[in-house]
Amino acid sequence: MKKNMVKVSKNTKETTEIARIFFDKILKEKNKSKGALVIALSGDLGAGKTLFTQAVAKHLGIKHHVTSPTFVIMKKYPVPEQARYGAGPLKNINYKFLFHFDAYRLENYKELMHLGWEEIIKNKENLVFIEWPENVKKVIPLDAKFIYISHKENGQRILELK
Ligand SMILES: Nc1ncnc2c1ncn2[C@@H]1O[C@H](COP(=O)(O)OP(=O)(O)OP(=O)(O)O)[C@@H](O)[C@H]1O
Ligand SMILES: [Mg+2]
Repeated sequence: MKKNMVKVSKNTKETTEIARIFFDKILKEKNKSKGALVIALSGDLGAGKTLFTQAVAKHLGIKHHVTSPTFVIMKKYPVPEQARYGAGPLKNINYKFLFHFDAYRLENYKELMHLGWEEIIKNKENLVFIEWPENVKKVIPLDAKFIYISHKENGQRILELK
């Protein structure tokens, strides 16, 4: 059986590193999904879900400043070519767009449908991060990857990849 990965972060720099490690691990696992790679990020307000997404975006060479999509619900960033033909774990990835969703303000999945969620997650070229997935549980694909971030004392965070 596949083991979970659990790491403790003492600060934002460590969270950034852990985000890269988790993402590379996800890429190394066979992506059985017929559609997009969906990464669901759970955790309290200020846990570090947006920071996690920002770290992966940087890792992929996305130069845009990735900001929290809490108020706009969705943001879309092109993944630069060099990430798609890079070395190491990023080799042979073929994601053209990174989507960053935040369902914090949503009561249910309906608003996501208006934003084209179904089309987005159908497309293998998309990499989709979603914060507050529990608000839209019904439409999170079964083959999504789940990351849980929890607070500990002194700014520490526990990050778990399931
Ligand atoms: N170890 C740590 N890892 C991550 N963030 C940390 C850590 N210690 C302190 N922080 C701070 O916690 C905050 C995390 O903010 P972030 O926007 O990523 O949270 P979030 O989970 O996306 O919250 P929200 O649900 O409001 O969108 C940042 O201000 C960051 O500086
Ligand atoms: Mg956030």
